[in-house]
Amino acid sequence: MGKPAQRHELTSLLKFCDCSAEKTCMDVFRPIPIDVIQIYEESAVDLFIKQEDRLVPFLEKGGVFTRDHLVDLNRFGINRIYIHGKEALTFEKYVHAYSDRILTDPSIPSKVKASTFYISSIHALRKAFEDPNSERITDIKNTLKPMFRNIMENKVLLEDLFSLTEHDFNTYTHSVNVGIYATSLAIHFYRNDSSVSMEQLQRQSYGYFLHDIGKSRVPLGILRKREALSEEEWAVMKKHPEWGYTILMETGHLTDEAAYISMQHHERPDGSGYPFGMKDIHPCARICTIADIFDALTSERPYKPALKPYEALGIIKKEAVTDFDQYLLAAFIKMLGPQEENIQLSKPETL
Ligand SMILES: [Fe+2]
Ligand SMILES: [Fe+2]
Repeated sequence: MGKPAQRHELTSLLKFCDCSAEKTCMDVFRPIPIDVIQIYEESAVDLFIKQEDRLVPFLEKGGVFTRDHLVDLNRFGINRIYIHGKEALTFEKYVHAYSDRILTDPSIPSKVKASTFYISSIHALRKAFEDPNSERITDIKNTLKPMFRNIMENKVLLEDLFSLTEHDFNTYTHSVNVGIYATSLAIHFYRNDSSVSMEQLQRQSYGYFLHDIGKSRVPLGILRKREALSEEEWAVMKKHPEWGYTILMETGHLTDEAAYISMQHHERPDGSGYPFGMKDIHPCARICTIADIFDALTSERPYKPALKPYEALGIIKKEAVTDFDQYLLAAFIKMLGPQEENIQLSKPETL
């Protein structure tokens, strides 16, 4: 155990950080939902809170986060804590280490589970994108498994998950967002269809989170390019569906569902998609396409602002050309309806 917990007043912590301008602070610090900080555990990183647009040290690395800390924060209506951007990886690791315990404990509230899952799955995806080996893909599945059960049993509410989606469009957050949207859509759409088993839905879910794993073979210079891609660069980017299929096959993680999803999520029913321009597209790939386009449109990119959910849905409507798509889109709109306000369009405070 670390240092003994000290009860304190927030007002005694008004030692402002060195950054005088908020922008500077926001460039360096990342906001984190308080729910993921473990009570009575040593903090893996320095924690800060925001007061009057300044960041204030709250708990040092190694200090124990106590219930008193939580009570203080609640009293001041603070629900986000900040960490140094450079410690984000350490923090993700800390959350990932106990995510299984949080996700399988029936007494933990939905909000805490959702926040823990979001950070933990981004960590698992980040590792898999660095090196998509069998062990790392298994780790993603192990993170998803308890979460899938929670969603199926309504132990985690969609509004809690949707309120977390960060739209800075890096490949990891995009993969997790698409995974969340597509899994939720598939569950909604097939809920009363006895021909689709729970196991099939779970295999679909893995496929959604891994739909872009082929991008791990796309050079970072292309993946992170801020300007529009050249024709040659696009040609490389368009190989990611086939590379995804190959990675899943080579690592022993290829199921029918994952194969259709990775290979066909950029195909379009009118034949205008890639890599093959096929028109007969598997239903799970169409579910993934809707989630994929929705996340891309509601994300901020260097060259475009984030669209509002209803604007994004308007564009997706034009893509929905088959009867199946129409039913799917209706289910997606119905699913998002009450949650629309919870969906964050872009990270307001981020690196
Ligand atoms: Fe893709
Ligand atoms: Fe994608």
